[in-house]
This record gives sequence, structure tokens and C-alpha cells, in this order.
Amino acid sequence: SKTIKKICCIGAGYVGGPTMSVVARQCPHIEITIVDMNAERIAAWNDENLENLPVYEPGLQEIVAEARGRNLFFSTDINKAIDEADMIFISVNTPTKNYGKGKGMAADLKYIELCARQIAAVAKDDKIVVEKSTLPVRTAAALKSILDNTGNGVNFHILSNPEFLAEGTAIQDLINPDRVLIGGENEEAIAALVNIYAHWVDHSRILTTNLWSSELSKLTANAFLAQRVSSINSISALCEKTGANVDEVSKAIGMDTRIGSKFLKASVGFGGSCFQKDILNLVYIARSYGLTEVAEYWDQVILMNDYQKQRFADNIIQTLYNTVSGKKIAFLGWAFKKDTNDTRESAAIYVADYLLNEQAEITVYDPKVSAERIYADLDYLNTRSPEENRALVKVVNTPYEACGNAHAIAVLTEWDEFKSYDWKKIKDEMKKPAFVFDGRKLLNRKQLEDLDFKYYAIGE
Ligand code: NAD
Ligand code: UDX
Repeated sequence: SKTIKKICCIGAGYVGGPTMSVVARQCPHIEITIVDMNAERIAAWNDENLENLPVYEPGLQEIVAEARGRNLFFSTDINKAIDEADMIFISVNTPTKNYGKGKGMAADLKYIELCARQIAAVAKDDKIVVEKSTLPVRTAAALKSILDNTGNGVNFHILSNPEFLAEGTAIQDLINPDRVLIGGENEEAIAALVNIYAHWVDHSRILTTNLWSSELSKLTANAFLAQRVSSINSISALCEKTGANVDEVSKAIGMDTRIGSKFLKASVGFGGSCFQKDILNLVYIARSYGLTEVAEYWDQVILMNDYQKQRFADNIIQTLYNTVSGKKIAFLGWAFKKDTNDTRESAAIYVADYLLNEQAEITVYDPKVSAERIYADLDYLNTRSPEENRALVKVVNTPYEACGNAHAIAVLTEWDEFKSYDWKKIKDEMKKPAFVFDGRKLLNRKQLEDLDFKYYAIGE
């Protein structure tokens, strides 16, 4: 099969950046250029100070340091990179549409289509085009039509190669994936991509399918994962009413090898850029084929997640004697999970919004998220003016500043460092009774209760 010498990846985000960095590390003989229309982002990827990379992932800085300038390049010259590449990965964002038909449900494919048109316009020789972004099933047909009808008469082969990495463990997931999925029609194109992964992934873990199975498997995998979280969260509500403990229930059911123990941690609700977006997309696709029952089945996973976030906030309000107006509430964590600076769809945003509606004053500490990002997340909701958000929410640089004089602490992200704080000092500097609402079941109940905290955890 064709040997790939040069790769172009369009989209230098949370997927494109880490994924191509790992390919560059594992395949030093392939030259990889990651391009993006966002010049600021490319500049950050090229920053000499690795602390300034736009994506924080454990292990990423080391890999970029090794490969950048050798066989890994970041550029805004999209046309040049397309022109020179044998294989082009499309790794641009596919957010939920916020206008027109399918608003709030369907995936917005305008960025994908722009990529296809640009590839078609530029390509002067045959290219393999790889869908790395998460896409609605049958998108490859649309891509093929655009490429074939607007191109310069060269051949395009389309592959689907969805990415299964999770943020916070992206590098580990990429180096040691459970499986690599490649969907396609052309055997030679499939083999070219298989050969790249085979440099570090065992053949038994490289799965090839038809295009549509590959596209649909990505939405399905995320729907199943999110469904597990919503399922255990629904049980957490029942635990709180009955004296059962959700961690004990998780362990008891997870030891059944048919169920399995992973992804059964009750929480304040799942966040992240993928789960909600991809399930909404699945629901929309099912509806568009007239499959109402299928659509409603999966929609419930999202409704349960919204309920969980609301329930967490309601419990804080109720426990604080039914009013949080004018009360300082400390948020530990804003990211949607630990070990990432990503806050997209983080439960913290929605919990904050509910509490701000009750006129709470919130002080946030997160080890990796900037104040700018936190205000942007709240402003994006459009619930209140940017001025009001800045008056009611303070972002601070230490946990002790966040918790001083607070009526309550809410743990929204499971950062490891939260466990080893000086909880006695925190308690002494808080208003009494000192409440902790642990949305991650992270802290030690006995330790906190011995210090006289009033400790509430999900599902206990
Ligand atoms: P992102 O927003 O972090 O990055 C996308 C980048 O693409 C942006 O920097 C944007 O400027 C760039 N871009 C958009 N249109 C462009 C164009 N026409 N030309 C050049 N650059 C363009 O998004 P992400 O989190 O990396 O996600 C990318 C895709 O991967 C999505 O489809 C997502 O569903 C999927 N995915 C994400 C994850 C994850 O954990 N974030 C995991 C698996 C799959
Ligand atoms: C997810 C998928 O795991 C990954 O395969 C896909 O490629 C992208 O979407 P990501 O969103 O980065 O990855 O993180 P993930 O670890 O799946 O967590 C998603 C959310 O679910 C987080 O808010 C996390 O805290 C929450 N979660 C996860 C739970 O509340 N309980 C769990 O048991 C697992």
C-alpha cells in the first residue's frame, strides 16, 4: 500500500494537538503539520515556554518538546500543508448547532464542510482524507460529494477514524488505546492508515469496518459511557433517601463481570465537550429517521444529568436553611474533570448558575482554569450581565482564599490536591456550621467530621 510521508491535520484543538503529537513521536519518519485558522492557538503551540501550550494534558509537554521542529510543525498556512500532504486528518470542532434547523440538537457541520471545500480547491494529487472529528453517521457521503464535485479531478479516499481519547489521560489513551477504529471503502487507503497505527498498536487492536459503522460507533460509545454515569447518578438519588451508599452499590454491581467496574462513579453530573453534544446528535439523527422511541430513550440520559446538577445545587440551598442570598460559597474546581484545563459543559457552570439565581456569592479556585475562562463560561449562558457575573463571582489563586469566611464549600472537580489541604485551617477560617458538599465523593468523611465539618456527599 501507499506509504505516507507527510500528514496534515486541520484543527489544533484538544484532539488534533495531542493525537498528532503522539503520531509524530511514534513515527519519526512521517512529517506532520497541524494547521488551524486560529493564529493565537498556533502561536501558543509554538511557544518556547511549554507551560503556554493551549492544551494541558499530563505528558504532552514532553512529547511536544521532543517532536516539535523535528517532524511536528504547527502552522496557519493551511493551503501549503494540504498541498504537501498524502493524508489529511480533519479534526475541527463539530459543536451543537445554535441556530436554524436542529438548533440545540444537531451537530454543526459548517467547519467540516469548509475543510472539504478547501482540500478540494487546493489538492493537485490524490489524497486520503480522514474524519477524526466526531460526525453524524453518513457524513462521509457528504464529504465525498463535495470533494468529488469541487476538486481538480484528483482521487479522494475517505476514511473514518474516530478518536476515543479522554481528556486528562489523552497521552496514555493514545499510546495504549483499547482499540483503533478505521472505517472505509478503499482497501489501499485503509491499509495506509492501519500501517501508521501499527507502528505502536498491536494489529489485534486495530479494527476495520465499513464507513457507517465507524461513524456510528463513536456516537454510540459516548452514549453508552454517559448512560452509565446517568444510571449510577439516578441510583445516587435513591441512596440519599434510603441509607444505601452509592459507592457500595457501585462496587457490588461492578464486580459482576457482565457489568464491569469502570465508569460507575456517582458525581455532580458529567460534563465535557463530547457526551451531551454527541447524545443530542444521536437523538436528532434517530428522530430524523422517524425513530421516536430510540430518540427518547437516549434523551433521558441528558435529562437525568440535568436533574443531577440541579439536585446538587438544590441540596446546598436547602441545607443552608433555604437561603444562600448574600452567602459566600467556595467552589473547589471548575474543570469538567481533573487533570485538564477544559471547562466545556462542566457541571460547575450550571451549579454556579443555579446558586447565582439565588443571589449567592461564589469564590472559585481551580488549579488549571483561568479567571478569564470562568467568566467567559458564565457570560456564555446569558443568564445575567457580564458586570453582574464579575460582581457575584470571584476567582482566586489559593484554596484558602476561596474558603475563608465561606458558609459552604462545594467540590466540583476531583483534583487530587484537594485531598491534602490543611482542612483544620480551612475549617477554622469558615463561617459555622462549616458545610462541605462533595460533588465528587473525593474527601474523607471521617477526617472532615472529626474536624466538625457538616459533610454531604452525593449518594450517601
Ligand atoms: P477544539 O475546539 O479544541 O479544536 C478544533 C479546532 O479546529 C479549533 O482550534 C478551530 O480553530 C479549528 N478549526 C475549525 N474550523 C477550521 C477550519 N475550517 N480550518 C482550520 N481550522 C479550523 O475541538 P476538539 O475538542 O479538539 O474536538 C475536535 C473534534 O474531535 C470534535 O468533533 C469532537 O467531537 C471530537 N472529539 C473530541 C474529544 C475531546 O475529548 N475533546 C474526544 C474525541 C473526539
Ligand atoms: C469522553 C470519552 O470518555 C472519550 O472516550 C471520548 O473520546 C470523549 O468523551 P472526556 O469527556 O474527555 O471523554 O472524559 P470522561 O472521562 O469520559 O468524563 C466525562 C465526564 O463524565 C466528566 O465530567 C467525568 O467527571 C464524568 N464521569 C466519568 C463521572 O461522573 N463518573 C464516571 O464514572 C466517569
